[in-house]
Amino acid sequence: MKRVTWRRALVTGASAGIGKAMVQELARHGTELVLVARNADRLERIAGSLEVPAEVLPADLCDRTQLDAVARRCAAADDPIDLLVNNAGIWSFGALIGPSGDVAEKMVALNVAAVVGRSPPPPGQIVAHPRGGLRKK
Ligand SMILES: NC(=O)c1ccc[n+]([C@@H]2O[C@H](COP(=O)([O-])OP(=O)(O)OC[C@H]3O[C@@H](n4cnc5c(N)ncnc54)[C@H](OP(=O)(O)O)[C@@H]3O)[C@@H](O)[C@H]2O)c1
Repeated sequence: MKRVTWRRALVTGASAGIGKAMVQELARHGTELVLVARNADRLERIAGSLEVPAEVLPADLCDRTQLDAVARRCAAADDPIDLLVNNAGIWSFGALIGPSGDVAEKMVALNVAAVVGRSPPPPGQIVAHPRGGLRKK
């Protein structure tokens, strides 16, 4: 199978777990990166450990304004993004009301709304890009 090489990927949830591993793997293949998560210090450390150029874009994707900033970066004509790895997510068990209800609300905002709603960017925009593509998480 022909291997696709991406020029620049934006990875959400890049500060830990699967997202961080994706970042390291993409960098190993020469893909430049834009790293998104809330913890800016962790993102800076990861960016500094890579042998490719990496931008750090701290954002809480549950926050509409910050999600919009990420969407704008995805759509920017300068240094365009040709791969979006929309990986950030949380999972929690518990009651839908009371303290864990707040977590449930965040799960919907992050795992659903930030992906299919005002996703960074609208999926069609990435696919329409000559080198564009989407990956399911
Ligand atoms: N691990 C599994 O077995 C598994 C199985 C099925 C599906 N998944 C899915 O795969 C994805 C990654 O899982 P993981 O295990 O790698 O998770 P993880 O280790 O908990 O990492 C989650 C990442 O998302 C970021 N994040 C959390 N809330 C955020 C927010 N509001 N805004 C922006 N970034 C946020 C975290 O960084 P900050 O805290 O710095 O924001 C972190 O980088 C998730 O969507 C998860 O649901 C995982």
